[in-house]
Order: sequence, then C-alpha cells, then structure tokens
Amino acid sequence: MPRLPRGGGGAPAILRRAVRPVRAGWDEARRALLARVRPGSPAGRLLYRLLCEDFTREQQAVLAGIRRYRDEVRTEARNQALLRRRIHMLEKGLAMRPRRAVFALDYIAETVDAYALRHAHVAAEARRRGDETAPVPPAAGRAGGEAGSEGPPASRAPASHMPAPATRAAPPHRAATGGGRAGGEAAGVDDTLIWAHDVLARTFAACAPHPVFAQQEVRFAALPPPPRGAGPHEGTPAAADHSTAGRTRDAAAPRIPYARDLAEPPPVAYADLLALARRRRSVRWFRPEPVPRALFERALAVAAQSPSACNRQPFVFRVFDDAAMVRAVADTAMGTRGYAHNVPMIAVLVGQQRHFFDARDRHLVYIDGALAAMALVLALETLGLASCLVNWPDIEAREAALAALIGLEADERPVMLIAIGHPDPDGLVPFSAKKAPGDLLRYG
Ligand SMILES: Cc1cc2nc3c(=O)[nH]c(=O)nc-3n(C[C@H](O)[C@H](O)[C@H](O)COP(=O)(O)O)c2cc1C
Repeated sequence: MPRLPRGGGGAPAILRRAVRPVRAGWDEARRALLARVRPGSPAGRLLYRLLCEDFTREQQAVLAGIRRYRDEVRTEARNQALLRRRIHMLEKGLAMRPRRAVFALDYIAETVDAYALRHAHVAAEARRRGDETAPVPPAAGRAGGEAGSEGPPASRAPASHMPAPATRAAPPHRAATGGGRAGGEAAGVDDTLIWAHDVLARTFAACAPHPVFAQQEVRFAALPPPPRGAGPHEGTPAAADHSTAGRTRDAAAPRIPYARDLAEPPPVAYADLLALARRRRSVRWFRPEPVPRALFERALAVAAQSPSACNRQPFVFRVFDDAAMVRAVADTAMGTRGYAHNVPMIAVLVGQQRHFFDARDRHLVYIDGALAAMALVLALETLGLASCLVNWPDIEAREAALAALIGLEADERPVMLIAIGHPDPDGLVPFSAKKAPGDLLRYG
C-alpha cells in the first residue's frame, strides 16, 4: 500500500523531529522581519526575494505551463485553451450590442489555425480508434464544402458550413487524449470542435465582407463539418445531464449565441437553493460502501456548467476510489488527520497552467477550480452523497509526495482535495455558524 511518511518527506522521523523546531523558529523570525518592512518598498522587495521561496513552486508550474501552451498550440492542439478562448471571444462579438459589422480581424486567422489543428487532431484520434465515419481532412483525400477552391466562397450564407442536425449513435470509448479519462465520448465527436465550428460559421455569415475574413472562410470551409453527438458523455449515465438540451429547446440547434427561454420560471426556487446550501455541510464520517462512479460523474456534469474565465476550464478532477490510493492521497494533506481512514473516494482538483500563455492568469486555476468544486459538492448533496473540501497547503514536501503518488505534470498544481462518500448518519458535523449576510456585505 502506497503509504507516505507523515509530513510527506523522506527523512527519518528522528531527524524530522529534530529539524521541526529549528524550521518553525526560522519561519517565525522570517515572518517577524517581513512584517516590519513596508510592503512595496525597495527594502521589502529585496528582503522578500532573499528570504522567501514561497512562490517558487508556483513560479515553476507557471513557467512549465507557458512552455507547454506554446508547444501545444503550435503543434498538436491537445491544448484547447487558445481555441476555446478565441471562440468565446467570437461569441461575445456576435452577442455584442450593437454588433460591429466586422470584428475579430486581429485574431480570426489564429482562430482558424487553432480550429484546423484541433480538427486534424480529433479526426486522427478517431481514425486511430478505427472510426470510419470520422471526418477526413482534405489533405488526406476528401474535401468538404468548398474544399480546394481558390478565392472566396460563392455565398456568405452559413448553410454550407452548418451540419445537418443529425446525431449519430456511437459506442462509448475511452478518450485517447488523456490516460484514464472517464466518460464515453462518441468516437470523433468533440464538443469543443462542434462549438468552434458553429461559432466560426456564424461569424463568417454575420460579418460584413472583408478580405481577411474571405481568406479565412475558405480555409474554414475546406474542412468537413465535425460529426455531432448529444454530448461528450454519450452512452454514459451522465449523458442526459451533460447534453446540450436545456440550453436551448432544440439540442441539435447550432451552438452559437442564443436568447435564453425566460418564459419558464427558474427550475429551482430560491427557497430550495437556500435549503440545499443549508443542508450541505462538510462531512468527515462516511459509510464504508463505495461511491458509484456514475454518481460522481453526474455531479461532475453540474460542476462542468460552472463559469470559467474565457470558458477554458483549466482543471481536471483526479478521482481515486481504490482504498489504498484513497488513503495514501488523503494522507498527503494535513487536514484529513483523524478521518482519512474512512474516506471511500477522494478527488484531487488539479489546476493546469498549460491553459495560459502568460503568468498574469496564473490564479485562474484556483478561481475556476473553486467555482467548479462548489457546484460539485452541492450536486453531490442532491445525489445523497456528502463531501469535505480539504485544504492543499503549499508545502514543498507534501506537493512532491502528491506529485509522485498521482503523477502530476510540471504545470499542474493541486487546488484542493475533496473527500466524498455516503454520509454516516451517526457522524456529527460541526455547526459551523456562518457570518450574517450583513457582515459579508458593503455597498460601494
Ligand atoms: C478551501 C477549503 C479548505 C478546507 N480544508 C479543510 C481541511 O483541510 N480539513 C477539513 O477537515 N475541512 C476542511 N475544510 C472544510 C471547512 O472546515 C468547512 O467548510 C468550514 O468549517 C465550514 O463548514 P461547512 O462546510 O460545514 O459549512 C475546508 C474548506 C475549504 C473551503
């Protein structure tokens, strides 16, 4: 069983015990010194640089992320970040009031580049898995629409780009782009690609004629429309939850900006949401039975609807339900002491800095991840499960231990852990009085 020494380090316990007070003393002295200097002053900055390595690991992860971002956007389009961000920007342009006659001029070429890369990647993956219905890029022999034609397309109407709204049943499979990915994406069906296709088609149709657009529209039209499915979890218990139905009345409608149906009242009343928020508590005592993965995936379908900066969703939930691994993962954190042994499932929410081309966005893995985590735990509650979010302190030895245990890549940072299980009805939960709304509010 992959147990870790307490504290996560590899040194003998006697040595660790001897070093602990020395380190604690040094940390306290450092904090006391830093508290005396004026933040932002040259002395403060210098001291901080000399005395603090607190951000070193994050710095390295950010650097690794930037490097990976640059490698992948140019080459293999495994990294969806650029495409998702640009398509999101096109959607904002399409929804703008008033809409400009031409927009996105400075990035439409880059967007079509990213679309073409992902198109080729998805098609290659599908062919590798033996899916004969996967679209074949023109270079490989088959051209769609105006493929191969020179000059601007005959018509600006999007009809030639818009797919027939057919759905194709395909067997579930393991996605090839990430080892151990859960779910059952239909072969060759890629939600990001379909969304990108539809938004690009709409953009080309909506923008006034412009030579830059005409050139990019030719490139775009040369690629066959991607195959469509009901959603990325087709064939799994979470299929209905994740399908695009519910966004619009027509699940097969193009995935472009739309007017929400506001005639119906919200499906959840305020009182119900408040009751759910009050019911959810951090639960640390669980019944021993395993958590069905299908239940976790249903909760994840809710979490996946969370907002995310530029819709990049730069995180992944690494889920463990093997008893030995759960225990080992739980033991890497500090906050599971005393109850780690009774946790049936644990998720590590891992932020991926590879989604960002610049350090300025480094905090988004934590923000977007936390938003998704909140939705996840509320959804778990509705499914009869309980959870406890677990702090991931930024401690070198622990992070190294977790990275080794679950195989974190250089740009990946744990955001938090989430203990999950069926609540033990006899287990107590702390009352955890909340601040009054007035204490959390200041207008202006
Ligand atoms: C980011 C975060 C980290 C947390 N870390 C831990 C932890 O390490 N161990 C633990 O037992 N609970 C942890 N909790 C749970 C909090 O203690 C709990 O949310 C808080 O006391 C309020 O209780 P409630 O969740 O029942 O409303 C954490 C919660 C959050 C949001």
